[in-house]
Amino acid sequence: MKRRDWLISLALTASLLTSAIAGCGSDEAATDADAGDGETKTLVMATSADYPPYEFFETERGEGEPVGFDIDIAKYITSELGYGLEISDMDFNGIIPALQSGRADFAMAGMTPTAEREENVDFSSIYYDAKNTIVAASGSGFESYEDLAGKTVGVQLGSIQENEAKEKAEEIGDITIESRNKISELIQEMKAGRIDAAIIEDTVAKGYIANNPDLEFSTIAGGEEASGSAIAFPKDSELREEFEAVLQAMQDNGELDALITKWFEEYYAEQGGDTE
Ligand code: ARG
Repeated sequence: MKRRDWLISLALTASLLTSAIAGCGSDEAATDADAGDGETKTLVMATSADYPPYEFFETERGEGEPVGFDIDIAKYITSELGYGLEISDMDFNGIIPALQSGRADFAMAGMTPTAEREENVDFSSIYYDAKNTIVAASGSGFESYEDLAGKTVGVQLGSIQENEAKEKAEEIGDITIESRNKISELIQEMKAGRIDAAIIEDTVAKGYIANNPDLEFSTIAGGEEASGSAIAFPKDSELREEFEAVLQAMQDNGELDALITKWFEEYYAEQGGDTE
């Protein structure tokens, strides 16, 4: 082959390759994820990385990128759809405002869909269930809200646990509610004896207890409703349907189960907790 012909065939191969790569994935995703200039669109995900194993930093100082169950789901969905992913960590209470003001395209933060939140954001279907528990110093033996009369109880600001605890406090009376931005602050204050208990989901309480043997937790007697996690989007976002399709596929192809095993069995086991 002459040098000129060789160059032409090289150029041809290169352009064929480029279009082959561009054509990868489902057609729909390729167009949706295309920012218009041929570059992949990057989606910003809001989260509150104080919630192992859903999302957390592997170092105590919070360096690097958050990891966890939600993060793996987000990576899978965005990569299936051909989007880039940027994670924006914030206080849990700031997530819905971030979606409303367009600072985030979606949010995954172990967030439970509620009627009140649905006035401001849209949700995917629920991808994992959880129940509220009372976390306290070992030996406290709190099993119901009634047991918390006369106590100071910590909750995360803006969480459904905050709402529930406030309602119960009104009903029962004589329960002081303390709200904090981060779950880790609740744990610290409990260990320091500044609060007597905290309301935290079982899925998250387990990991913290495994790391803090001086704490215990108990699912709340009287069967408080189970609450699950869903992906949140700005109202009327077109992403909701795209994401939902991949989330359903993950349920059908075993991908979601594999991540549940990874984070809610293997991760707990590594933390030294039981997997019950
Ligand atoms: N599921 C609860 C809620 O939606 C708590 C979620 C807290 N999430 C977090 N990343 N700290 O209110």
